[in-house]
Amino acid sequence: MSSAMSERASESSALDGRVAVVTGAGRGIGAGIARLLAARGAAVVVNDLGVELDGSGADTGPAAQVVDEITAAGGTAIADGADVSDAEQAEALVRTAVEKFGKLDVLVNVAGILRDRMIFNLSEQEWDDVIRVHLKGHFNTTKPAAAYWREQRNPEGHYRLINFTSVSGLHGAPGQPNYAAAKMGIVGLTYSCANALGRYGVTANAISPGAATRMTASIPGERRAGTSAGNDERSPDNIAPIVGYIASEASDWLTGQVVGARGYEVHLYNTPAPIRHVVSANPWEPERLADLVERTFKPAVAPNGR
Ligand SMILES: NC(=O)c1ccc[n+]([C@@H]2O[C@H](COP(=O)([O-])OP(=O)(O)OC[C@H]3O[C@@H](n4cnc5c(N)ncnc54)[C@H](O)[C@@H]3O)[C@@H](O)[C@H]2O)c1
Repeated sequence: MSSAMSERASESSALDGRVAVVTGAGRGIGAGIARLLAARGAAVVVNDLGVELDGSGADTGPAAQVVDEITAAGGTAIADGADVSDAEQAEALVRTAVEKFGKLDVLVNVAGILRDRMIFNLSEQEWDDVIRVHLKGHFNTTKPAAAYWREQRNPEGHYRLINFTSVSGLHGAPGQPNYAAAKMGIVGLTYSCANALGRYGVTANAISPGAATRMTASIPGERRAGTSAGNDERSPDNIAPIVGYIASEASDWLTGQVVGARGYEVHLYNTPAPIRHVVSANPWEPERLADLVERTFKPAVAPNGR
């Protein structure tokens, strides 16, 4: 039995009666989230297309296995094989939660793939595939969920949109231009949804995780860092507790934020804001502007620009 499941016996069930959809929940971080949400009392739709890391193939096995684990531990879950990059299938996924469990409280968008390449070698197909699964995939589930929440007319609904971004975008991984762009697009989508949906009782936040999964095993530096199975601090299950908290009714105060989670550490990112200003009463004279930005901005910019 996983540690997440054993919690059910020992802790009050903070998610009793809640209904959640978790995409990409057949493996890695999503599976850990589905198990913890179910262990804490939520009914969970475990979605996974069961693809390879590059998005190829399809397999109902991973989602079914997570559902088996949850039900064996006394939880409630059903498997769903929708491809979140397909708008119709994603809408059907959201409908499934409402039809099977009567409502939807929490949408966790975890599903993702990688097609890593330096920008000068990246094909149009590799760009499109990663944007389609991550960024459009987030839109495809979020739109019908948001429409459903708006229809409920319940500003006290404690509805939750929990998206997945990455340090790849936040810090700019050089070998992942498609993925970095998709993941920063997801941050913008999250900020927009937080501002748009608060009045309908919805909070929207993005998680930036770090864990040893097949996804990080594909990155040479991460392999060197020692991310073998059994390395507990790097377990994907360590991302689930903060998602479990955000999924609960207690987190109404938290919206429009990026929350990092890796190992036993959880951190709150700042939100981009201007940090230096130069102002002119008249149109800029180019030399004067150059002099002012060099004196005012340059001390705030790291030598490599990041
Ligand atoms: N592992 C990390 O350290 C890390 C770091 C930063 C961000 N992330 C993000 O966290 C999320 C989970 O990553 P992971 O490491 O657990 O990866 P993973 O590859 O172990 O799991 C991703 C799951 O998504 C599923 N999936 C892919 N495309 C799908 C589609 N179109 N429809 C439905 N399901 C689909 C896959 O079948 C797979 O089971 C991803 O969004 C990833 O970008 C992970």
